[in-house]
Amino acid sequence: MNKSKLNVAIIGLGTVGSGVLRLLNKQKNNIKNRTGIELRVVAISAKNTTKKRSVDISPFRWIASPLNIAKDPNVDVIVELIGDMDNTARKVIREAINNGKHVVTANKSLLAKEGSIYEELAREKGVFLRYEAAVAGGIPIIKVLQDSLIVNKISKLYGVINGTCNFILTKMESDGREYSDVFSEAQRLGYVESDPRLDIGGIDSAHKLALLSCLAFGTALNFKAVKTEGIDHISIEDIQEADLIGYKIKLLATAEYSKNKLTQEVSPKLIRKGSPIAQVNGSTNIIAIEGEEIGTTVFSGPGAGMGPTASSVVSDLVAIASRKSKSTFLTGDKTNSSNRNEKVSKKSSFYLRFVLKDKPGVIARLSGKLSNCGISINQMKQKPLPKQRATLIMITHKALEESLKKALIDIKKLKICEQKPVAIEIQEI
Ligand SMILES: NC(=O)c1ccc[n+]([C@@H]2O[C@H](COP(=O)([O-])OP(=O)(O)OC[C@H]3O[C@@H](n4cnc5c(N)ncnc54)[C@H](OP(=O)(O)O)[C@@H]3O)[C@@H](O)[C@H]2O)c1
Repeated sequence: MNKSKLNVAIIGLGTVGSGVLRLLNKQKNNIKNRTGIELRVVAISAKNTTKKRSVDISPFRWIASPLNIAKDPNVDVIVELIGDMDNTARKVIREAINNGKHVVTANKSLLAKEGSIYEELAREKGVFLRYEAAVAGGIPIIKVLQDSLIVNKISKLYGVINGTCNFILTKMESDGREYSDVFSEAQRLGYVESDPRLDIGGIDSAHKLALLSCLAFGTALNFKAVKTEGIDHISIEDIQEADLIGYKIKLLATAEYSKNKLTQEVSPKLIRKGSPIAQVNGSTNIIAIEGEEIGTTVFSGPGAGMGPTASSVVSDLVAIASRKSKSTFLTGDKTNSSNRNEKVSKKSSFYLRFVLKDKPGVIARLSGKLSNCGISINQMKQKPLPKQRATLIMITHKALEESLKKALIDIKKLKICEQKPVAIEIQEI
């Protein structure tokens, strides 16, 4: 590979792929002037040959088979922007690396599950695998963890890393609308993945968190160990009640590494309104990192979209051409005994919402079950509902999550709940 020239093939010409073509075209001279590097697009591919694209693809060589591109001797680097809906991306990445090509991808889903395999293969073949766009769109968080913070012992990272969920929760709050209504709007606007569970079920955040965890702590990639809960059970009432006591509800991704134990969790949390995390609205992402030397450092910016994601992809190309690239960190330290995801017992306060049959003695029975599990109540509010039902809102004193789970199982057995209770941890961050 001539250092000053990089022959690039782009596979996938959707939102991100078109953005990369557009950006390379717009910034070609600027990149050359500033870095001395010429990025040349020598092949493109997508699924549908006749589809109208948002960029002019006529100057580029279209190759129908992505696998043929991965074997093309004229190509130095493959930019995989297909996604994880079938086996194509997996085959393309493997084939490209096996043929001595560098790979840039934004495919967080595939990387979270199999990134360590591709990393090992890339090392073996002496090529680079880069994926800045896979986490938090335009925020250069991968480089920060691989380079800038490398001398820091990182103990915790947390943040909001799914723009769709944050858009829905923010919109529910600002417009006073129910989840289902705002979810439909997000779908209409094209913000929701074709499989909505990826976004609203917290899985997309879990993919990204798994990648960030192993980069931050040097542990092995372990997506399956991320405890994951989504936002589809959150009602406007929960958001309004949280607001009354000074909190917002956010889908928080948290990874913590302490005493050789790693915990990874994605779930809705009540976050105090003054916290920077609570102030991130719409599709913006935010990630806070707690390191030994840096204290807490916060990164915020656009988490997705054509421009920000393409900017990260092109920065990876420049890094490869400059041979500044590190190999990835996805295999983690195999000798590290802490690679397992461990349960750490910690105490927190919880917000609880029950819809109960409005009968005498019901609240006493429910409170009794909480008390039996060592959970005491800090605040309680009852609101009547039609059809002889009532909503009961509670804020608990600090208690173990395991104790709350046990209490909720016992409460279920009482058969006094009209719907599944909502329990959200209150996080003081
Ligand atoms: N969109 C974002 O903001 C964003 C942010 C971060 C990361 N990402 C990641 O970036 C990747 C691309 O996302 P996107 O939003 O650009 O997706 P997209 O708009 O759905 O585009 C996917 C592209 O892949 C092509 N494709 C699908 N199956 C193919 C196959 N079997 N062979 C060849 N091409 C195929 C499609 O071809 P046709 O156009 O012909 O249908 C389309 O051009 C995904 O991994 C995604 O998770 C996206």
